[in-house]
Amino acid sequence: MRVSLLRAVTKSIYTSTLLWVFVLLFATASVGQESSPANLSNSATVNQRVEELLKKMTLEEKIGQLNQVSAANFLNPPNREELIEKGQIGSFLWSVDPVQLDKYQHLAVEKSRLHIPLLFGYDVIHGFRTVFPVPIAMAASWDPQVLEKAQSFAAREARASGINWTFGPMVDIARDARWGRIVEGAGEDPYLGSAMARAQVRGFQGPQLGTPDHVLATVKHFAGYGAAEGGRDYDSVYLPETSLRNVYLQPFRAAVDAGVGSLMSAYMDLNDVPAGGNHWLLHDVLRTEWGFQGFVVTDALTTNDLIIHGFAKDETDAAYRAVSAGVNVDMASRILAGQLAGLVKNGKITVAQIDDAVRPVLAVKIRMGLFEHPYTDLSKIGSVLSDPAAREHSRIAAQRSMVLLRNENHTLPLSKKVSSIALIGPLANDGIDLDGGWGVDGETPAVTVEAGLRNKLPGVTITSARGGEIRRTIPSRFDDFLPGGKKTPPQTAEEISKEIEEAVSLAKKSEVSVLVLGETANMSGEYASRSTLELPGRQQELLEKIAAVGKPVALVIVSGRPLNISWASAHIPAIVMAWQPGSEAGNAIADILFGDANPGGKLPVSWPRSAGQEPLYYSHNVTQYPESDPTYRSRYWEGPSTPLYPFGFGLSYTTFSISDLRLSKTELKAGDSLEATATVTNTGGIAGDEVVQLYIHQRAGSTSRPIRELKGFERVSLQLGETKTVHFTLGKKELTYWSEARKSWVEEPEEFDVWIGNCSTAALHAAFRVLE
Ligand code: BGC
Repeated sequence: MRVSLLRAVTKSIYTSTLLWVFVLLFATASVGQESSPANLSNSATVNQRVEELLKKMTLEEKIGQLNQVSAANFLNPPNREELIEKGQIGSFLWSVDPVQLDKYQHLAVEKSRLHIPLLFGYDVIHGFRTVFPVPIAMAASWDPQVLEKAQSFAAREARASGINWTFGPMVDIARDARWGRIVEGAGEDPYLGSAMARAQVRGFQGPQLGTPDHVLATVKHFAGYGAAEGGRDYDSVYLPETSLRNVYLQPFRAAVDAGVGSLMSAYMDLNDVPAGGNHWLLHDVLRTEWGFQGFVVTDALTTNDLIIHGFAKDETDAAYRAVSAGVNVDMASRILAGQLAGLVKNGKITVAQIDDAVRPVLAVKIRMGLFEHPYTDLSKIGSVLSDPAAREHSRIAAQRSMVLLRNENHTLPLSKKVSSIALIGPLANDGIDLDGGWGVDGETPAVTVEAGLRNKLPGVTITSARGGEIRRTIPSRFDDFLPGGKKTPPQTAEEISKEIEEAVSLAKKSEVSVLVLGETANMSGEYASRSTLELPGRQQELLEKIAAVGKPVALVIVSGRPLNISWASAHIPAIVMAWQPGSEAGNAIADILFGDANPGGKLPVSWPRSAGQEPLYYSHNVTQYPESDPTYRSRYWEGPSTPLYPFGFGLSYTTFSISDLRLSKTELKAGDSLEATATVTNTGGIAGDEVVQLYIHQRAGSTSRPIRELKGFERVSLQLGETKTVHFTLGKKELTYWSEARKSWVEEPEEFDVWIGNCSTAALHAAFRVLE
């Protein structure tokens, strides 16, 4: 699966003589419950070309367009090239070898009867050669523009290498940090998640499908995957329609409205119907209600999973159910390729149904300009992949993603005049773990924290000590081809103790200790769920022993999920959540630690005290004996049920005041809107960023409504003493929700609370009423 790009670059230079043809027909639609996706609507020209092609295609060629095949050395048919020439493969996945992809494209375009180009898909999730912070980190920036730009760099690098389709953005709402794939999404909130979804679609695809140097995006995994029971990856999901529509489906709708060209169905059962065979999801909601014009691809082998789930009885039944539900492209299982002709022959599926399945696949290929410009100019790979602008952006993105969780007595930023630093922890010197998961062969291993500190402080004595290794107890099935898997035998308890003692003696000799603790790359992501959120291995012991030395300590957490840092939050004066920051990790961490960048990130998830609190999210309903009532402070008798750090929380090296909340009116008619404003002032010592957040609460209605819901945010940069006014609109889009009681979208004539502040606990309050 993982073939070095560099090896391949020098060969096979091909320059297409044809020009790109761009049909700029589609304006970006606004996002709202009742808007319709305008930018993927089939234009007459595209439709006509699709119909002309369909008329010429044999049944086998049509089925070929629905067949996505592995280009790696597993799950691959031996006769791939022959199948391409026969038009029986529509797309490939799992190869980043530009020469192989180029060869396949030439076969498809020059040797197949109808010259239909191939799509080449790959998981370009947070970078390609240049690695950007993992998606949850990018969400912590609360800065959609920075994420859009990162994904457009990723698209450019991938496209230059022959990949024209990415399996991102992943927009699954995750409210349970035990679930390993929390790292791949934007966290717990549908509003923030929708903003990040739109940004990524724009970043990957550009203003419209077919923009040069961009790729086809895939919004995934439709839908509800993040609510796997117990946070166990792949497990069943039970979500009522109210949670689906008001929360889990929201970012998908945002991506569809932003013009995403493809959508991936999820692995798991949703309310006992596998998502990959779920007609309600893939047809009723996606096509009928939302008007999605792109194509649906299954997750890998999901058609076969329909059998594993005990839903379909065999491959024939699985193919029948997948296509009947609304699947277009079958990823890697080849079941549609094997079964559909027979189903047509015996009349269970009609040719018209096959045509319906094929149409959006052809339409996307046409819109992407692939018929006119199928090839990649391989001579450009080197310059695109070494463009320093991508690295610069990665560093900025990493700085903007980091969240300062604690900073007692201004421990941070550290002084550059420090004489010696003890750099301690298993993640301080591992570039691959600092990159995070979904690595691509050929990606740049991250600048380590040690290298970053040395770059910043060339004259300072920096000594590092690992303090014992960390590794998964049960290895990942991806360890062979994803970063983070350890091939060496595990350290013994004695070896770890020795390394901890070495770290302690180093801390004693140094002026300051910087601890870099957390999780390796393969401890989050797919197949990486946990039953606890404790620091893996003996990192807690290491942390406590270093703290006991009594010298200043800063803790940097590197991981794809929040971890149990309850002890640290009371005993370690400075804590930075760095996530997995990507290629420029060490430099960006040094920038934050030494004050060359001022942290402004905010948590996109409620940070739990322990795994026992999960699932945990701020936007819950108020129920009997609210926790805000001093008599009933907690849902648990042994500790608080509130998060350790709330959603939206993050500190800065400066301070801000947010005041003067004003509403343009306090009564409005349904359908009208009002403006909410507040002023934000930098009241501290240096320039910095504040994320101003607006939350609402509907006081009564046809159903109970959450205690708070995010409905606006803006990251604002302010010089010392500077004041800005932030404007938010509250109207039909923000006030409408799906009522379980009324089984419809409603905007109800009720009273609403509004809060504006810098966290989900914002206190600045106003109220308004929607009139009958
Ligand atoms: C994952 C998807 C991914 C696909 C292709 C699956 O295992 O769930 O997110 O896009 O593999 O690599």
